[in-house]
Amino acid sequence: MSPRRKLKPARILGIETSCDETAAAVVEDGRRALSNVVASQVDLHAEYGGVFPEVASRQHVKVIDAVVATALKQAHVELDDVDAIAVTRGPGLPGSLVVGLNMAKGLSLGAGKSLLGINHLEGHLYSAWVDLKDEGNDAPEFPLLALIVSGGHTELVLMEKHLKYRRLGGTLDDAAGEAFDKVARLLELGYPGGPAIQKAAEGGDPSAFQLPRAWLEGSYDFSFSGLKTAVLHQVRDLQSGGLPTSALPRADLAASFQQAVVEVLVGKTQRAAEAFGAASILVAGGVSANGPLREQIQTASDLPVHLPPLALCTDNAAMIAAAGYFRYEIGKQRDALDIDAEPGWKLA
Ligand code: KG4
Ligand code: ZN
Repeated sequence: MSPRRKLKPARILGIETSCDETAAAVVEDGRRALSNVVASQVDLHAEYGGVFPEVASRQHVKVIDAVVATALKQAHVELDDVDAIAVTRGPGLPGSLVVGLNMAKGLSLGAGKSLLGINHLEGHLYSAWVDLKDEGNDAPEFPLLALIVSGGHTELVLMEKHLKYRRLGGTLDDAAGEAFDKVARLLELGYPGGPAIQKAAEGGDPSAFQLPRAWLEGSYDFSFSGLKTAVLHQVRDLQSGGLPTSALPRADLAASFQQAVVEVLVGKTQRAAEAFGAASILVAGGVSANGPLREQIQTASDLPVHLPPLALCTDNAAMIAAAGYFRYEIGKQRDALDIDAEPGWKLA
């Protein structure tokens, strides 16, 4: 009897440039990250208090070659050793997306590798499949209820199987991360706002200020603009009472705001998981790095909760390569010349 031949694991090079991180990674079998390189532009944008699109695309052009070369080198592979290239097509900033796409197209045509165009939100979902440290973590079980919370998106999605998405609801105004960024600016805590609010909140009382929670009963939608305005009014009241900006109770304000956001995210995700009979919950996107959100979603539910490792919550290319693997497996690769940027691409 001949010994069973071990199949070579499919290896995908991922490239991500949708916003302000230039990233490349090599992932095997959609799970094992051989490398994960992220060149963050956060310092370049900090002085503008947000992402400056023109600055972002120029910076991507400057570093993309080196980022891809480093990802291949750290994975100890040549371009020839990868099976396909996966690249973010959208949603994202048009000028940023085309930098990654052009790089991926060039590599695909030059090396004769298939190309997979990936939705950035699909990438965030697949960040929960990536086993960054080869720890053998469990893959999420279907049907799963996913909450995508980032700077640009807040979406509840039901995933019955790989690559199949049903959008249940999303934000009607600000994304959760956007609300963190705006409130951080208001409290002069710096950019990006999410980590700054979390840090400031550590010494604060989450029940110090009564802030509104928009439950939007009967829907799986979210709204965060009223909460942001409530913080603004609270700050103005304190200031008009004679309190100088430097003496604002920032820790209490940050903790109360953060708790209001987390409670709604956790409550609505949990309700949707019950209503749709989910077998597991997945939270992904930049805001999934938030400590209280990670803790509270795990205690609120009896279901297994899958959270990406902290390094894969914010934008990265390992998640794009992982999503690319599952598309590659079902033969979704396309001719490089057929793929263009889709800045407003919806997931479902
Ligand atoms: O996924 P991401 O890197 O980019 C987008 O696709 O938008 O998410 C960035 C967002 C920012 O709004 C940032 O403030 C937020 O994620 N964020 C956090 C935390 N870390 C990043 N929000 C709350 N708590 C955090 N620890
Ligand atoms: Zn993102």
